[in-house]
Amino acid sequence: MNLNLSGEIALVTGASRGIGQGVAVALGKAGAEIIGTATTSVGAKGITQNFKKQGICGEGVVLNIADSDATQAALERLGTKKPSILVNNAGITQDNLLVRMKDEEWDKVINTNLSGVYRLSKACLRAMMKARYGRIITISSIIGMTGNAGQSNYAAAKAGVIAFSKSLAKEVGSRGITVNVIAPGFIDTQMTHVLSEQQRTAILEHIPLGHIGEVDDVASAVVFLASKTASYITGETLHINGGMYMP
Ligand SMILES: NC(=O)c1ccc[n+]([C@@H]2O[C@H](COP(=O)([O-])OP(=O)(O)OC[C@H]3O[C@@H](n4cnc5c(N)ncnc54)[C@H](OP(=O)(O)O)[C@@H]3O)[C@@H](O)[C@H]2O)c1
Repeated sequence: MNLNLSGEIALVTGASRGIGQGVAVALGKAGAEIIGTATTSVGAKGITQNFKKQGICGEGVVLNIADSDATQAALERLGTKKPSILVNNAGITQDNLLVRMKDEEWDKVINTNLSGVYRLSKACLRAMMKARYGRIITISSIIGMTGNAGQSNYAAAKAGVIAFSKSLAKEVGSRGITVNVIAPGFIDTQMTHVLSEQQRTAILEHIPLGHIGEVDDVASAVVFLASKTASYITGETLHINGGMYMP
């Protein structure tokens, strides 16, 4: 099994905390140079410092994936550094029942979680096609498969990235580029810290493995899909949820 990513450049969106931070570190430890993104310069500096501390080659950059111009500009600033691995990790929630949902809540989640994946994938694709090699891995969610009351915007975006990835996998397979999705269940990050004790207990009842997942459960799967070992896997969605949902 070859999980060595030396010589590769990986762009990880939302690397300032949570799953993205863990993914960035894991890819870096596997030998890749990492460009990790945050929405603020403080966040970007924190990423660079964390990489230094962990002995990882790479840096943090500022990027708002909800903004087309900013995405283009950020990619241009990378100059000759063309990512061979893209991890579309950044995502947000703006929960509300549909009857109460504001247009801004719908638009913000779709624009970040779905259109952001479109933007970044498109921006990185040309260089990957030229190199006839690439890995695009997008973090969806169990909610994109099951739906969830109060999360119609988030569920629509997370289901959307699965269909998007299957389509793109068909478009670029002949160029040696694989496009895959990871759909985590509940993972211990800031995003799930908002859950009440009652909600946590209710969730745990539905997880056969009996506990909430760790960032590393997702990060190690990203390293695998980014590696040469996963060369024949494309258009796939990997469910990492402790058995909570089995398609
Ligand atoms: N945690 C879970 O249980 C779980 C389960 C299923 C799926 N997921 C998915 O996994 C991904 C990571 O989740 P997480 O729990 O690690 O979230 P998190 O702790 O809330 O971190 C979110 C990351 O996304 C970045 N981000 C937010 N809006 C952005 C934007 N407009 N442009 C660029 N970056 C942006 C944040 O950057 P700043 O620090 O600059 O704000 C942060 O780095 C998300 O796509 C989420 O939907 C999470």
